[in-house]
Amino acid sequence: MAQLSGIGSLSLAHFASEFNLLLLLLTLFFIYINIITYLVPIYSRRRIYHHHHHHHHHLLGFGMDKIRRASHAGSWYTDNPKKLGEELDGWLRDCGVAQSSDVRAVIAPHAGYSYSGRAAAYAFGNIDPENISRVFLLGPSHHHYTPKCALSKATLYKTPIGDLPIDLQVNEELKATGKFEFMDLHVDEAEHSMEMHLPYLVKVFQGYSVKVVPILVGALSAETEAMYGRLLAKYVDDPTNFFSVSSDFCHWGSRFNYTHYDKKHGAIHKSIEALDKSGMDIIETGDPDAFKQYLLETDNTICGRHPISVFLHMLKSSSTKIKIRFLRYEQSSHCKSMRDSSVSYASAAAKVDA
Ligand SMILES: *[C@@H]1O[C@H](CO)[C@@H](O)[C@H](O)[C@H]1NC(C)=O
Ligand SMILES: *[C@@H]1O[C@H](CO)[C@@H](O)[C@H](O)[C@H]1NC(C)=O
Repeated sequence: MAQLSGIGSLSLAHFASEFNLLLLLLTLFFIYINIITYLVPIYSRRRIYHHHHHHHHHLLGFGMDKIRRASHAGSWYTDNPKKLGEELDGWLRDCGVAQSSDVRAVIAPHAGYSYSGRAAAYAFGNIDPENISRVFLLGPSHHHYTPKCALSKATLYKTPIGDLPIDLQVNEELKATGKFEFMDLHVDEAEHSMEMHLPYLVKVFQGYSVKVVPILVGALSAETEAMYGRLLAKYVDDPTNFFSVSSDFCHWGSRFNYTHYDKKHGAIHKSIEALDKSGMDIIETGDPDAFKQYLLETDNTICGRHPISVFLHMLKSSSTKIKIRFLRYEQSSHCKSMRDSSVSYASAAAKVDA
C-alpha cells in the first residue's frame, strides 16, 4: 500500500490519464479498510470467548473483567468443584428446608464450611431462584477499617463451581449517592464474609441468571446504619432483589477477649446459647434500636452486627412487610471450662408477611 502515499504528488495535468489507476488504488484501499474492520472485532472477540467462555454477557466489558478470585477456596472450603458441589447438595438436602418465593433475605454464617457449612444450608435452602435477578451481599469487614460501606471494584466474583457477575448498573447507582467508598481488590480478596456465601448462591441459582451487589459494611455508627438502611430500603420493595446478610454469632473465650458467663443457665455453652438466643429474638422483632440496646448491654461478639443493623433499618424503612425467623442455631463446640472457646452459627430467613 506504499503506492497510496504517492497520490498527493499527482498533478492535475496527469489526473485524467491517471484516473483509472487512481480508481483502482482507491478500490483496493476500501477493500483493505473493510477487511481490517471485519477482522479486528472477530479476533478480539475470539480472545474474550477463550478467556470467559461461561460469560458471554461480558463481551460488553471487552475483556476488561476485574476478577475477584475465590481466595479462600482450598483452605476455608474445598477448591475441588465436584466435592464442593456434592457437599452443598448434601447439606441442602439434609436441612429439609423448602424453597419459598416469599423469602427475600437470609442471615447466614461465614465460617469455614467444616464449621458452619451445614448450618448455612438452613438459610440458603429457603431461596426460590425463579424470580430473583439480583443478590445484595452485606458482609462485615474483618481486616479493613472503614466507617462507611464499600462497593467492589471487581466485575466478577469467582467460585470453584461457577462465577457471579457484579451488577455494574446498581453499583453505579449506589456510587452516585456519594455515600459509598470502593474497596481495593486486595481488600476484597482478603475478606471472607461475603465469599463464604458465594458457593451456596451459585449452587442455589444454578440454571438461572443472577448478579450480585457486594457491600462491605464497615464499623458504622448507629446514625450511619440508619442512613444506609434508608438508602437501601427501595431495593427491598423490588421482589427481584434478594439480600444475603453475613454474620457469625458469639465468639466466646479468652482468645476472643469475651468470657461473659451467667451461671443461672448452667454450663458455659448454655449461657452462650441463652445470650445468642435473646439476641436472635430481638432481631426477629425487626427493631434496630432494640438490637443496638442489646449489643450495648451484652457486648455479644456478633461479628455481623453492623450488616444486621443496616438490614433491620432497611426492613423498617421499606414498604414491604418482612419478618425474620431463625431456623437453626449451632456452636462450633460446647464450652465447659473457662479455657475453652467457641463460635456460634445462626441461620435465618426473612419472609414477606402476607
Ligand atoms: C414468578 O413470576 C411469575 C410472573 O409474575 C409468576 O407467575 C410465578 O408464579 C412466579 N414464580 C414464583 C416461584 O413465585
Ligand atoms: C477486652 O475486653 C474488655 C472489656 O470487655 C476491654 O475493656 C478490653 O479493652 C479488651 N481488651 C482487648 C485487648 O481487646
